Amino acid sequence: MENIIKDIDIISAEEAQACDYKTTEDENTGKSKKLYIESYGCQMNFSDSEIVASIMKDNGFDTTSDFGQADVIFLNTCSIREKAELTVRKRLSQFNNIKKNKPELTIGVLGCMAERLKEKLLEEEKLVDVVVGPDAYRDLPNLVSEAEEGNKGVNTFLSREETYADISPVRLNSNGVSAFISIMRGCDNMCSFCVVPFTRGRERSRDPHSIVKEAQELFDRGFKEVTLLGQNVDSYKWSPEENNKARLNKKEDAVSTVINFAHLLEMVAQISPSLRVRFSTSHPKDITDDVLYTMKKYDNICKYIHLPVQSGNSRVLEMMNRTYDREWYLERVSKIREILGEECGISSDMIAGFCTETEEEHQDTLSLMDIVKYDFSYMFYYSERPGTLAAKKYVDDIPLDVKKKRLNDIIQKQSKLSEERNKLDIGKIQEILIEGESKRSGDQLKGRNSANKVVIIAKGNLKKGDYARVKITDCTPATLFGEVVA
Ligand code: SAH
Ligand code: SF4
Ligand code: F3S
Repeated sequence: MENIIKDIDIISAEEAQACDYKTTEDENTGKSKKLYIESYGCQMNFSDSEIVASIMKDNGFDTTSDFGQADVIFLNTCSIREKAELTVRKRLSQFNNIKKNKPELTIGVLGCMAERLKEKLLEEEKLVDVVVGPDAYRDLPNLVSEAEEGNKGVNTFLSREETYADISPVRLNSNGVSAFISIMRGCDNMCSFCVVPFTRGRERSRDPHSIVKEAQELFDRGFKEVTLLGQNVDSYKWSPEENNKARLNKKEDAVSTVINFAHLLEMVAQISPSLRVRFSTSHPKDITDDVLYTMKKYDNICKYIHLPVQSGNSRVLEMMNRTYDREWYLERVSKIREILGEECGISSDMIAGFCTETEEEHQDTLSLMDIVKYDFSYMFYYSERPGTLAAKKYVDDIPLDVKKKRLNDIIQKQSKLSEERNKLDIGKIQEILIEGESKRSGDQLKGRNSANKVVIIAKGNLKKGDYARVKITDCTPATLFGEVVA
C-alpha cells in the first residue's frame, strides 16, 4: 500500500493523457451472458481484446458497454510504465466494490500486467478470479467456467507459435472504416528499458495468407483502411520452415518462399486501390529500402512512418540497447525523405531522463527532433520496470523534477514542430478518408490524410467511408482544416 501511495505522487499531468482506455460496445445477438472488456495500453492490446471478444462470443457471451450489466468483466492491461499499472489497480478497486454486492460476477485481468505479475495478482487483488496472459486467451472460456464454480485460475503460458491466425476478431469500437490487423506477436529486441519482451514473449509472425484473407474480408464488409500491427513490423518473416508446418496442417495455400514485411505490404496493398494500408511500429534498425520503395509504388499505402527514436544521443541509445546510433537513425530518415519525399509523415516515441542521461545528451534529443521535424510524437519520462535489463544493470538516477523538465522541453519542441509541419500543408490538395463526424460539430466531418493527420471539413454530401479531395486552408498544431475541391 505504501508503495502505491508513493507511486501516485509521481503521476504527472503529461502522463495523464497516456491512460486512455477503450470499452466494448453493446452487442445483442441473443447470447445468454454479457461480457464487458476495458482495454489499456497499445493498439496490440486493443486488437487482442477483439480476439478475446470473438473467443467469448463462441462461448455464449455478447459484449456490453455497461459493466453494471456484465456477468464477466475483463481488464486487458498494460505494464509499459508504472503509471499504466497504477491506473489498472485503481480501476480494479472500483470493480471490486461492485463485486462485493454481486458475488457471482467474474473479474479477469488479461494482458501484460497479468503476464508480469502472474499468481501474485491473485494474492494482491483478492476479488480477481482469473489472470490470463496474452498467449493464453483460448483458455479463457474454460477458466471463466471454472471461476463460476468458485475455482480461481491463472494461465500465463507464453507460446512460440500462437498467433490466433484462425480467429476472426469481433470489431470493437470500430468506426466501420478502419481496422487493426495483428501480423505478428511478441518482441525479441530487448531494449533495456522495456517490459514488452517479458510480457509478450518471443517474436512470431502470422501466416501471410490469413492476414490477406482478413484484410480482404474487411474490405468486402465496407472497411476502407487496415493497419498492420506488430511491435516491430519490419522483422516480419514467414519462412519455409513455418510454411512446412502449415503444409503439414494441410493448409492449401501454403507459400514456398520467405515472405518479409515488404512482400506482405505489397500483398495487402494489391487487394484494392481503394483499401488504404497503414502499419505500426517500425524499428529504425530494421526498416529497409525495400519497404520504402513498396510504399512509393502503391498510392494506397499511406505515406506515414512511426519510427520511434527514444533518444537523440548515441551513448544513451547504446545503454538503451536500441542497436542503432544517432547517425544510423538520421540516415534512415534521409532515405525516407529521398524515396518518399517531404510529405511523408514521420512520428516518434521519446523517453526523457533515462539512466545517466546528461543535460547535454538531452539537448541531443532536442537537436535531433529539429533535424527530423517530426509531425507528431508520443513523449514519456523514463519509468523503471522491474525485471528489465535497465532495472538490473543501471541506477534510475535522474531526479523526477529533472525528468519532468526534460519531458516538458521535448513536448514544447514537438508542439512547435507539429505546427511548422502542418503549416507546410496549407494550400495543398490532399486525399482524405472520412472517418465520421467531428467531435466539435455535427456539421463537420473528420478525415485523415495519407500522412495520418486529422483533417476537418464541412459535411456537404459526404459521409463516413468516402474519399474526398480537399484543399488545406488552415491548421493548429494538432489538426488541419480543409475545403472539398472537385
Ligand atoms: N515496439 C515499439 C515500442 C513499444 S512501447 C518500439 O520499439 O518502438 C511504446 C513506447 O513506450 C516506447 O517506444 C517507449 O518510448 C515507451 N516506453 C517503453 N518502456 C518505457 C519505460 N520503461 N519508461 C518510459 N517509456 C517507456
Ligand atoms: Fe520494447 Fe524495444 Fe521491443 Fe519496442 S522493440 S517492444 S521498445 S523491446
Ligand atoms: Fe503495454 Fe503490453 Fe502494449 S506493456 S504497450 S499493452 S505490449
